[in-house]
Amino acid sequence: MSRSRRCVVAVPGSSEKMIGKSLEFQVDQVFLDLEDAVAPGMKAQARELIGKTFDSLAKEKSHFKAGIVSIRVNGTGTPWLAEDLDFLSQGAGKHIDAIIFPKSSSADEMKWLDSELSKVEKTCGIKQGAIAVDVQIETAQGLINVEEIAKAPRISSVAFGPADFMADLGMPSSDVTSQPTGYEIADIFHYPLMKILVAARAAGVSALDGPVLDVHNLDKFKASAMRARAMGFDGKWVLHPSQIDACNEIFTPSQEVFDAASLLLQAYEYYTSTAGGSKGAVIYDGAMIDEASRKMALSTHARGISAGLKPGKQFNP
Ligand code: GLV
Ligand code: MG
Repeated sequence: MSRSRRCVVAVPGSSEKMIGKSLEFQVDQVFLDLEDAVAPGMKAQARELIGKTFDSLAKEKSHFKAGIVSIRVNGTGTPWLAEDLDFLSQGAGKHIDAIIFPKSSSADEMKWLDSELSKVEKTCGIKQGAIAVDVQIETAQGLINVEEIAKAPRISSVAFGPADFMADLGMPSSDVTSQPTGYEIADIFHYPLMKILVAARAAGVSALDGPVLDVHNLDKFKASAMRARAMGFDGKWVLHPSQIDACNEIFTPSQEVFDAASLLLQAYEYYTSTAGGSKGAVIYDGAMIDEASRKMALSTHARGISAGLKPGKQFNP
């Protein structure tokens, strides 16, 4: 079963206060950022702070509450990526499940990263392939190549980066995730989001929506999260602790929806069995269900299970 990826929280790697708080976040993933939330002059200090945090957690035999702990490294072409990889090799690599790779642009770049991470794992003495890669698609080039990128080695999720994407495409608005004035004919983010979702599904990895920067507008966050959820995304990035509960709730099926999916699966199993008459299509709860209905229910069921829900109802023919 794939790991639940409903809420991914960004934590600036240079903020001791935020890192301290993030230890307690009950989320599927946290990432300590070395990229855009850290000023160029603070990159070295951020690495040092993250290293110290990992060391003291190891000493206290303690851990982040988040299911997946990761670091966002700087992108290709920056003066910092080599230093970030070096930092991972010096020991930080032992403490993370994944890196977040920003502005991913091609499958070749991902192959290069795979071999760099193999070196990191060797130096750290950890299992080959232990560090997964979560890519961000946030440039025109990345979106063109997303289908190949999603299938590259180690990839476990593909996330949209709306702020960088808007900048790269020359969209004049700075109101990230809102529909820009002057473009009222359609949803301007539909194309990148749907393309990312399709690529992630074809590769069998998680699909994540990016952040809402307007962190004090919870309604805006919820609307954006619900749109992504309605499309089929697994989760979303969060930039502020006040967005966590809403994010977890929106991307977790309710008990009622989960129970309905679980009952449908049980019913379909019964009707397709000899005892149930070996039927491939049957009217159940007022609607026709068939193999495709089973697959739809399976997806909701899998999300519920990976979020820790327990089936509450039993099907009786
Ligand atoms: C996130 O990294 C973004 O650019 O939106
Ligand atoms: Mg970005």
